[in-house]
Amino acid sequence: MMIPSGKTAESILLVDDEEDIRDVLQLALSDLGLTVHQAENGDQAMALFKQYHPPLVLTDIKMPVMDGIELLQRVKHENPDTEVIMITGHGDMDLAIKSLKHEATDFITKPINVDALEISIKRARDRILVRDKLRQYTENLEILLKEKTELQDRLASLGLMISSMAHGVKGLLTGLDAGAYLLDTGVRQKDDTRISEGWQTVKGGIGKIRNLIQDILFYSKKRDVKMSMIPVAVFAHEIASEFRKKMNLEKCRFVFESGEDLGRFQADSEYLQTALVNILDNAADACAKDSVKAAHTIRFRASRDRKSVIFTIRDDGIGMDTETQRRIFTLFFSSKGPQGTGLGLFIAKSIVAQHGGVIDVKSSPGQGSRFRIRIPVNR
Ligand SMILES: Nc1ncnc2c1ncn2[C@@H]1O[C@H](COP(=O)(O)OP(=O)(O)OP(=O)(O)O)[C@@H](O)[C@H]1O
Ligand SMILES: [Mg+2]
Repeated sequence: MMIPSGKTAESILLVDDEEDIRDVLQLALSDLGLTVHQAENGDQAMALFKQYHPPLVLTDIKMPVMDGIELLQRVKHENPDTEVIMITGHGDMDLAIKSLKHEATDFITKPINVDALEISIKRARDRILVRDKLRQYTENLEILLKEKTELQDRLASLGLMISSMAHGVKGLLTGLDAGAYLLDTGVRQKDDTRISEGWQTVKGGIGKIRNLIQDILFYSKKRDVKMSMIPVAVFAHEIASEFRKKMNLEKCRFVFESGEDLGRFQADSEYLQTALVNILDNAADACAKDSVKAAHTIRFRASRDRKSVIFTIRDDGIGMDTETQRRIFTLFFSSKGPQGTGLGLFIAKSIVAQHGGVIDVKSSPGQGSRFRIRIPVNR
């Protein structure tokens, strides 16, 4: 058979008020492999159209009640992609042209020549096939475009990360060099103060590199959170003592306060620890940067209410203006030059979100900042 059987063009709505003509056409159309729905007037046709959504309609142009043109308009209104072939009588040229204006696919004249009908149907089915293909291509193209944009975004942020990481490591190396120099000269001159100062600097540098690497690892391969019920007090205490160990206590006081009966909460302790340490590190940086106040204090507090556990980290460091506050959770936002990657709070926020929690920030320039992390006890 000359007609390709497109999946979408399997059924046709045949509309004619004369039963004899319908019967003849029914035979011809069935021979073309089409399922035929017959209607004897426009109303019946519209009902069938709404029920079966045929991609093809073959309709007489002159019918009582609703003529073919009106039916054509209604069908096109319902689904503009429908291919509608009009059957016209001899001398109905005006109507035929009118129907073309209303986007009929084609018209064939009575008495119907089966070959002409076949050709007309084939053309209509081909159009349906082409339209389907086009739709598929467009959809694929949209998917491809989306993937491309995502890939570009990822590449761009990867490039940004590598460069800011290189900057970060460079800055940290300068710090390590300074520490090593102090150690060297201290040992040579047998100067204990120098040795201890150099050693503190080196230790600080090592800690910072460790944090940086942990952040990058976290960023590059996000694993799923591993939740378990953990005792809040133990968790907070561990973070506090780890943080205290790496702090330079001469320059900044660290106060840990733990409320009573903190109970347990659902958390991925390794992840949540990373989040809190990132916020504590920022507090330490903010204090170190502030040369106005003589002494500084960082307060870390664990408490709870009925539904959540609350960690509060307060510092009296340099604080932030509103513009900085607006941007702190953005990936790679950092005001620390080569000393900062801008990953810390981005990661902290995503970890807290994975726990169903929120971070609330209050800060004023020159006064200090307060970060409050609220984690629901049970997800
Ligand atoms: N406690 C704070 N006091 C003042 N500014 C802060 C404080 N915490 C965060 N910020 C501001 O938010 C910015 C982003 O912090 P974030 O931890 O994401 O990056 P970073 O500390 O600069 O670098 P990284 O943590 O990746 O080493 C900081 O550069 C700083 O400007
Ligand atoms: Mg940070």
